[in-house]
Amino acid sequence: MKFNDIVMILKDIPHIGIENGKILYDFIRVKKFNHILELGFAHGTSTCYMAAALKENGLGVITTIDRDSAKERKPNIFNLSEKLNFEEIITPIFAEKSYNWELMKIVEKNTIQGKCTPVFDFCYIDGAHTWEVDGLAFFLVEKLLKPGAWILFDDIEWTFEQSPALKDSKIVKKMPEEERKTPQVKKIFNLLVSQHPNFENLKISKGWGWAQKRTDHETYIAPSKIIENIYANQIIKVDIVRYLKKFRERVLRKTRR
Ligand SMILES: C[S@@+](CC[C@H](N)C(=O)[O-])C[C@H]1O[C@@H](n2cnc3c(N)ncnc32)[C@H](O)[C@@H]1O
Repeated sequence: MKFNDIVMILKDIPHIGIENGKILYDFIRVKKFNHILELGFAHGTSTCYMAAALKENGLGVITTIDRDSAKERKPNIFNLSEKLNFEEIITPIFAEKSYNWELMKIVEKNTIQGKCTPVFDFCYIDGAHTWEVDGLAFFLVEKLLKPGAWILFDDIEWTFEQSPALKDSKIVKKMPEEERKTPQVKKIFNLLVSQHPNFENLKISKGWGWAQKRTDHETYIAPSKIIENIYANQIIKVDIVRYLKKFRERVLRKTRR
């Protein structure tokens, strides 16, 4: 579906604006992704910009997760998806509490013999915006991203204190001042994503944080492997020491004779 056609339908629906919708659309048109994951869809506006690009590519699907309460939105993701004929592209998941619980199920479903097979090419995170929720979401998503896949964080600079919709809510007023004032997504990006050994090509631009999963990340040696190697080296060292000791004793015995 062409961008101008989708804009006509989505332009007045919160939350993503036309400018960012266009960036998402163009990125997906170029990258030709097979499977996209989205955390936080609200009405499904960002989901539909992405789905329009996939439809134009003639390839790809989206799994997107929000809370049960998203069903009550007007319009909701079903209304938009039906109107635009995106039902075969978009699979919404409604979490009782949090997308992290649903991500646990996706990790579990894709775990074979103790190893999680990555399934997604791109993940757009625009959900809780908190250190506690999205910090964990990042590590779960990392397990599910294929080598070379991209992750995009919305609202890098966003704070609860500056949010017109939330700043006066009970829940925000109860928050510690530091949590209210801190751009928590930025902390996740700078302290978790940028320091993670599997990510490169990091970029912050216009409130968005981009990162790409390394293609050579399989070469990353898991700590358990390092410990196994240390033990293996230790055993070899002990064997060598034992052999040298025996050899020395034999030489000494011979020289005494
Ligand atoms: C800013 S809105 C998403 C907007 C959408 N991406 C767009 O641009 O059209 C954030 C959404 O994240 C959802 N959300 C926040 N925390 C969540 C959590 N822990 N689990 C599931 N959904 C969550 C909210 O219900 C809300 O609908």
